[in-house]
Amino acid sequence: MRRRLFVTTALPYANGPFHIGHIMEYIQADIWVRFQRMQGHEVHFIGADDAHGAPIMLAAEKTGKSPEQFIAEIAKGRKQYLDGFHIEFDNWHSTHSKENTELSQDIYRKLDKAGLVYKKAVEQFFDPVKGMYLADRYIKGECPNCGAKDQYGDACENCGTVYSPTKLKNPYSTLSGAKPVLKSSEHYFFRLSDPKCTAFLREWINKSDRLQPQVANKAKEWLEGKGDKTLADWDISRDPPYFGIRIPDIKEEKYLYVWLDAPIGYFASLKNYCARKQIDFDAFVKPGGGTEMIHFIGKDIIYFHTLFWPAMLQFSGYKAPDHVYVHGFITVSGDKMSKSRGTGIDPLRYLKLGMNPEWLRYYIAAKLNANVEDIDFDPDDFMARINSDLVGKYVNIASRCASFLTRYFDGKVTDTTFDKFWNAYAVPQMFGEVGEAYESREFGKAIRTAMAFADMINGYFDAAKPWELAKDPGKHQQLHNVCSVCIRGFQLLTCWLKPVLPSLAIRAESFLNCEPLQFNRVPEPLTRIKAYTHLMTRVEEKQLDALFEVSKEATMTASSPQPSPAAAGEGVISIDDFNKLDLRIARIVKAEHVDGADKLLKLTLDIGDGMRTVFAGIKSAYDPSKLEGRLTVMVANIAPRKMKFGVSEGMVLAASGEGPGLFLLSPDSGAQAGMKVK
Ligand code: MSP
Ligand code: ZN
Repeated sequence: MRRRLFVTTALPYANGPFHIGHIMEYIQADIWVRFQRMQGHEVHFIGADDAHGAPIMLAAEKTGKSPEQFIAEIAKGRKQYLDGFHIEFDNWHSTHSKENTELSQDIYRKLDKAGLVYKKAVEQFFDPVKGMYLADRYIKGECPNCGAKDQYGDACENCGTVYSPTKLKNPYSTLSGAKPVLKSSEHYFFRLSDPKCTAFLREWINKSDRLQPQVANKAKEWLEGKGDKTLADWDISRDPPYFGIRIPDIKEEKYLYVWLDAPIGYFASLKNYCARKQIDFDAFVKPGGGTEMIHFIGKDIIYFHTLFWPAMLQFSGYKAPDHVYVHGFITVSGDKMSKSRGTGIDPLRYLKLGMNPEWLRYYIAAKLNANVEDIDFDPDDFMARINSDLVGKYVNIASRCASFLTRYFDGKVTDTTFDKFWNAYAVPQMFGEVGEAYESREFGKAIRTAMAFADMINGYFDAAKPWELAKDPGKHQQLHNVCSVCIRGFQLLTCWLKPVLPSLAIRAESFLNCEPLQFNRVPEPLTRIKAYTHLMTRVEEKQLDALFEVSKEATMTASSPQPSPAAAGEGVISIDDFNKLDLRIARIVKAEHVDGADKLLKLTLDIGDGMRTVFAGIKSAYDPSKLEGRLTVMVANIAPRKMKFGVSEGMVLAASGEGPGLFLLSPDSGAQAGMKVK
């Protein structure tokens, strides 16, 4: 059956550019969406900016802009990130829109009609200078318990005591510094504790497979209450000044709290999209429309999405979400934010450095599962997975096979022995496993299965030794079979990785000369491939260094030969720097005194591929005749140096300390002249 899916990601606050956490969420949802499309399902993938609320209003004020102007500028910056990481929303809109105002006011009216809204006076701190009520985070003062200064309105960071802001001693507004005064105002509440709400939520939360088990448990805990804590009603109004949507049908100027209009923004963006595409909006949002509504969100906003949002929808005549899929947070290097690697990853910097967006998609996919677990971006792990797995195992198959197929068989592919391989290697089962893994958001498992298959293909290829088969014209049929099986394996792998690597897959399809790969059917056999074009490069250490803003001098390059010790992390060099040295075992064939030199000996060294002459300052410590025949270590690629007595073509290594004495290095027995020292 063809599914109709309405898929969203959380709406990011419009007070700043995307960070790596946002991008991770979009990549997760985008992979799932692409997989569903490859199954032949109809998917509408919707996003928007969450533009309202006090923090955005204040952020705009700080920059001297109107909130409208401020959020418009943020909105303009979104596309480059989304395009850059191949995140393909069908629509991107804003909660500050005509659609959202209409929908939010409509939903409010319906909740009111259902008897779920009531008014109550609330006493709250008010900043008399700023002329505004203060949310807890804008109030500081002295802890009522330990007296620590500058503590926030909700809890003390010094002693951990939790309190309400009215308990603070000498409170002040962080906005103006003024002493806040207590003031009373009428607020509107959503009666979440109403028995019909709790009964509905109980049923909604408990429906099997709607929520991940951990998420359902959390929601149940909140719903049923713990000890004397019962489910509280929800304050949904704010006093001016506020950047938001007016509460309709009342005389006073009051606004809907941002968290009421924010999720309605999902609908607003969908409505805007449906109008553009001339699709029936109601079919998605009204019960019985035969569509599925699915939200991808992070673990910090479960409460809003599993209690308020479904209840709001249910009692205003809309349909509640079918699934809320929650992910954990992404940390960078274990959140330690390591000093040498800088602090975090800036997604735009990643793109501007020319790093491949599909590396990040692959890495995140490889780390993700269906649980609410945090994942860590570890630079070394990132490099290993891209270079060894993605490029080394998968991409390599194509380049290995293509050269033989093109050279000996004019690109033609034969399918004669494929079925044997297909069954012997249990490929149909794997096909099913990969599909199920994507469906259940076990992306790491999908990737592991794909890599296991890549290992099988590479093993099969190596065992057949095609480079030897190629030498014998009598074995060319066998060569053709092996390369055909392997390139067909590459085609299957491309299909499996396509939700993660959409751009590489398109280039691979063109090289393979095949139809766009789908998940609901086994790809057609290949007939004739085109010339191989490069599909993906490896990650370089220096790209990661640049990403984490390690000072440029830290890596010694030809253009900056003198790193400052401080910038280099107290004289630390990279493995690349070390690898520039050509250290070799050298046999001292001849050692001679040099006329007129009181420190030098002239050494003739055998370094495997030739002889070198080196003038070494070791006369004080060694009798030349005793040196002949012994092994030592030399730097073979140091620039030749013209000396008074001739040209020195390298350097031998010797130890010395404060006191007298000079000690040539020598290798353990068994070493041969010419061996590399690493
Ligand atoms: N505006 C609200 C959501 C409203 S939805 C109707 C909001 N915005 S946010 O910008 O703070 O977060 C947007 C999404 O990014 C949330 O799902 C949040 O969990 C996610 N992430 C924020 N930091 C994250 C990480 N470090 N890692 C992964 N996701 C994280 O909340
Ligand atoms: Zn305290």
